Parts: sequence; structure tokens; C-alpha cells
Amino acid sequence: METSKKYLLFLSLLISLFLAYNFIIYTSKEDYETIHLSEKALQGESIWLKKNCNSCHQFYGLGGYLGPDLTNIYSKRDEANIKAMLNSGVNAMPKFNFKENEKKALIQFLKEVDQTGYYPNKEASIEYNGWVEIKNKQHENR
Ligand code: HEC
Repeated sequence: METSKKYLLFLSLLISLFLAYNFIIYTSKEDYETIHLSEKALQGESIWLKKNCNSCHQFYGLGGYLGPDLTNIYSKRDEANIKAMLNSGVNAMPKFNFKENEKKALIQFLKEVDQTGYYPNKEASIEYNGWVEIKNKQHENR
């Protein structure tokens, strides 16, 4: 075979591999189910938004950086501890005058956020197809 034909053959092989790879990557369906918050957690979320907790705190590392990340705060502290923090504030954490049911709603929201996963998530593995598989609470709880 002529050299130029060999190159052409090789090039088309590379291109078809590239296309096949992309086809697999972009058509494989991953299981990203939607997270549904309970009614109470939704009330908590609206307090979270109204009071701008996110201006100082983060979920999954996103938010303001004056206070700590609260993604997994529900697993780290007990409810009384979170309530006490809201009641009295510490250092730059302001004191809030929430009613009991508002605190409960906020805690329910933090609880359901906590169930969505881990942050920081250091247990990640790279799959053969290029996807990164991370440790996932939702799949564990099933
Ligand atoms: C002005 C910034 C700011 C706002 C707004 C704010 N926080 Fe904080 N928060 C902080 C800081 C700073 C800390 C850490 C306090 C410390 O321990 O020194 C903190 C700590 C906390 C903790 C305890 C974290 C732990 O590790 O125990 C919780 C829970 C918390 N905040 C919840 C909230 C909620 C819920 C809201 C909204 C209603 C909110 N914060 C609004 C700054 C803020």
C-alpha cells in the first residue's frame, strides 16, 4: 500500500475512534435523579434564602466564605447544637430571633441537604469511560 493511503487509513481510524468515544460519552445515561425536598425543608430553604445564610456559608463549597461549609453540618452536630448557634450566634455568626417552628424547618432543610452527599468528597474514582464516580449517599441509602 502507498504511504499516503496508509496515513489516510490511520487518520480515518483515529477519527472513527474519536467519534465512537464521543458517542458513548454523550449518550450514556447517568442516574442523576432530582432531589425533592419535603414541605418542611422547603420552608427551611426559604428562610435560608430570606436570611441570606448563603452569603456567609456554603453548600458543596459554593457560597460566601465568612462561615463554614454547612453541607454535612447535620451529621456533625446535634439539633440542640444547631439551635443554640442560631439562638445566640458566635463571633461573626449573627444571632437570629427565630420561632421554634422556623428553627425546626431550617434544621429539616439542613438535614435533607446533608442526605444529598458528602462535601468535601475525597472518595472519587475515575471510571473507564471517563466519568468520575463519587461516594454517593443517595445510592447508599437505597
Ligand atoms: C454574617 C455571616 C453569617 C450569616 C449571615 C450566617 N452565619 Fe452561620 N456562621 C457564621 C460564622 C462566621 C460561623 C462560625 C462561628 C464560629 O464558630 O466562630 C457560623 C456558624 C454557623 C453554624 C455552626 C457551624 C458549626 O460548625 O458548628 C451554623 C449551624 C450556622 N452558622 C447556621 C447559619 C444559618 C442557618 C444561617 C442563616 C439563618 C446563618 N448561619 C447565617 C457566619 C454567618
